[in-house]
Amino acid sequence: MISDADAAALYDVLNPWDPDGYAGDRFYDDLLTRAESVLDVGCGTGAMLHWAREHGHAGRLVGLDPDVAALDRARRRGDVEWVEGRAADAPAGAGFALATMTGHAFQFLVTDHELRASLAAIHAALRPGGRFAFETRHPQARAWEQWNPSNAADIEALGRALRVWHEVESVRDGVVTFHGTLAEPDGTVLRVDRERLRFLDVAALDALLADAGFAIEARYGDWHHGPVTAASREIITVARAQAVSA
Ligand SMILES: C[S@@+](CC[C@H](N)C(=O)[O-])C[C@H]1O[C@@H](n2cnc3c(N)ncnc32)[C@H](O)[C@@H]1O
Repeated sequence: MISDADAAALYDVLNPWDPDGYAGDRFYDDLLTRAESVLDVGCGTGAMLHWAREHGHAGRLVGLDPDVAALDRARRRGDVEWVEGRAADAPAGAGFALATMTGHAFQFLVTDHELRASLAAIHAALRPGGRFAFETRHPQARAWEQWNPSNAADIEALGRALRVWHEVESVRDGVVTFHGTLAEPDGTVLRVDRERLRFLDVAALDALLADAGFAIEARYGDWHHGPVTAASREIITVARAQAVSA
């Protein structure tokens, strides 16, 4: 078996945060550098905020995530605030300059209710004019078609050889349900995680953002600031919190 703590450690091996090596990480790091306070929603193991503090960010940094094992890893760094909770629990009136959802964490907001509650809470946690930056996979690219056992990867991690693969259970109403499996190299299963991810198109996303009081400041289809096109795999958004009128 693989414990939740080991799964969190494996996440960091498979998804290192490296703004010098990955354009997506650079995209967010540039935004963080210019923001005096940051709320990272769905922060997971906290790697982005660890990097920011390590590289000189002197302002308030807060990571929020419902996954206890991931947060335990995040807490290895004590000069960042770590809060257990969902996006919908983001603290109202906190006045953050920037909120982020990286690593496609936004897609974990599956139902319309959770999306609306989360966007409302993130809006309330920002100062007027504060930014919310996040990405979601563009449904037109049908990324889930690559999530099948024929794309299994053999890796060395947690001090052992492992085989990792994904398998889609269903694609329904914009929600992809799939399993992530960790196994011995011979296929003996060690751990299975079931996940559900929402895939929103641009129009549906923008309607939700507008309803929550956000205006789109910038929209990109790739990490080099290119526009969204018919070939884009990502919908990358920087939204601004509009002031709430009395
Ligand atoms: C793929 S990980 C991304 C972690 C991190 N942001 C990164 O870039 O590596 C997605 C994260 O979203 C978190 N998550 C799931 N549901 C959530 C919710 N309703 N609100 C906030 N975070 C959530 C998960 O616990 C997980 O840590």
